[in-house]
Amino acid sequence: MEETKEEIKARLPVEDVVGDYIELKRAGRSLKGRSPWGVDKTPSFMVSPEKGIWHDFSANKGGDIFTFIMEVEGISFREALEKLAARAGVELKKYGGDDKKIAQRKVRAREALELSTKYYQFALSKNQEVCKYVFYKRNMNKATVKEFRIGYSPRSGRALTKFLATKNYRQAELSDAGLLNQYGGDLFRGRMMVPFIDTNGVVIGFTARVLDKSEPKYLNTPETLLFNKSRFIFGLYQAKPAIREKNYVVIVEGNMDVISSHQAGVKTAVATSGTAMTEQHLKILSRLTSDVRLAYDGDEAGLRATERAINMAGALGISLSVISDYHGCKDPDELIQKDAKLWQDAVEHYKPAVDFLLERYEEKLNLNTAGGKKEYSDVAMRLISYLTDPVEKKHYEQLVAKRLDVTVEDLKAKKLPSPRPKRFKQVKTERPSAEQIAYNKMKDSLLSIQLFGGAAGAKLNYEIPSDETKLDELNMIFETKYGKYDERTLAKEAEELSARYDKIVKRMKVEELTAELAEVEDDEEKTNEILREIKQLQNV
Ligand code: CTP
Ligand code: MN
Repeated sequence: MEETKEEIKARLPVEDVVGDYIELKRAGRSLKGRSPWGVDKTPSFMVSPEKGIWHDFSANKGGDIFTFIMEVEGISFREALEKLAARAGVELKKYGGDDKKIAQRKVRAREALELSTKYYQFALSKNQEVCKYVFYKRNMNKATVKEFRIGYSPRSGRALTKFLATKNYRQAELSDAGLLNQYGGDLFRGRMMVPFIDTNGVVIGFTARVLDKSEPKYLNTPETLLFNKSRFIFGLYQAKPAIREKNYVVIVEGNMDVISSHQAGVKTAVATSGTAMTEQHLKILSRLTSDVRLAYDGDEAGLRATERAINMAGALGISLSVISDYHGCKDPDELIQKDAKLWQDAVEHYKPAVDFLLERYEEKLNLNTAGGKKEYSDVAMRLISYLTDPVEKKHYEQLVAKRLDVTVEDLKAKKLPSPRPKRFKQVKTERPSAEQIAYNKMKDSLLSIQLFGGAAGAKLNYEIPSDETKLDELNMIFETKYGKYDERTLAKEAEELSARYDKIVKRMKVEELTAELAEVEDDEEKTNEILREIKQLQNV
């Protein structure tokens, strides 16, 4: 069950699920919108894509995607789970046993892949010819070969399969791991092996390169229980710390470009492996940084890929730029082989993607002719239509107008297919009562100070929830509400809140006991006991 929940969460970003009901705008690391139960004048609904959680400060509700759907649709957890599983394309097994079986198959596949990695690494160390290719032709050093766990798959047809059979792996398990060809033999033969390592450091597949000119140049693990190419980002495991530290990511085209780049000291490089960049790729990266730099080929395909990326980036709040100066080399790897310093400089010389594309089109089209101007304004306005920031939009409209010697109004008069405005889903539940909200709010605020307020929270002693999501939510509440408080102000706030809260709790208890009193009319002993309790509560 946990596994299924996590799988669904990994596939459905919280901002997408919430985004069906309310409009979200990026605000730093989080997104903001108006409460769907709302009466808020300023956006009080926050989403943290990084943590996969949301909190509504006006209605004081929050949680993960499951609680969100439960809350807005007014349905049970099971129903929300079914709804989201269907949307994520995750199969919900009727009986817990099947879920466990899949989990078990994944465990075995991971083990088989780990063993294969070690096997391939060993095979590399034993083969001088291939070592020559790796160390001299590709210029990898020992540390790189170790870090990226480079190996070699022997040429004979069943070397790996036989080895894994001696370790008690069945064919079906090797097939789950994506290691077999259609005849049940080794999929990878006589190739340099580069493992696909997920963000937990676990091998989930391989890309394998021939050592000569034969075809296909690369062979990749097919889609398996573990490997999904539209989500996998090559090198992210190794690049994550650097991306966090430098706060940007460089996307290169080839896996080998990633490896060379890391060796050359540019450890922020990643690649989408053997596939075009998808929205999921960008979304995963957008949780780490909003500064995304593309280092694609300058050919037609590269330009189209860049334009697609601009279209996707706008909605994700990503600022997309392009690294384009390879000093005549065909890719970053080639540039690095020539001079690593040139690549280190290149990643610092980037251009906003829109400027880059506009310049390419200016070069390609003749802006002195009516036809050239029309075509240029077509592509320019299309690019501008992808942008979400009004100031940025205006900037480019003015730039293009100036370039064509027309007014912005002329440009806007061009007929462009306007994107349909998004229709939001209706929330099916009521806003909680004001008292309910006030009470929950106080309680969450107190807990957040107790947990994250340092000395100011030390005196508080409320029961801490054990739920991870709730703790993340409390952290978000603390950061948002009290992040800027100094210790004294916070301590004062804690004291006041706690006094008010305790008073309310007491009043609620008295109300409860009074109601109980009405029910035990006949029982004198019980009546006296309750009265005593009420008195006690009123006295302290
Ligand atoms: N690719 C692939 N299958 C192929 C060719 C390419 O999956 N038959 C993918 C690989 O992920 C590769 C990327 O496309 O890394 C870029 O291809 P290419 O430019 O041909 O490869 P390079 O990375 O330059 O490879 P190398 O330097 O090893 O020649
Ligand atoms: Mn290359």
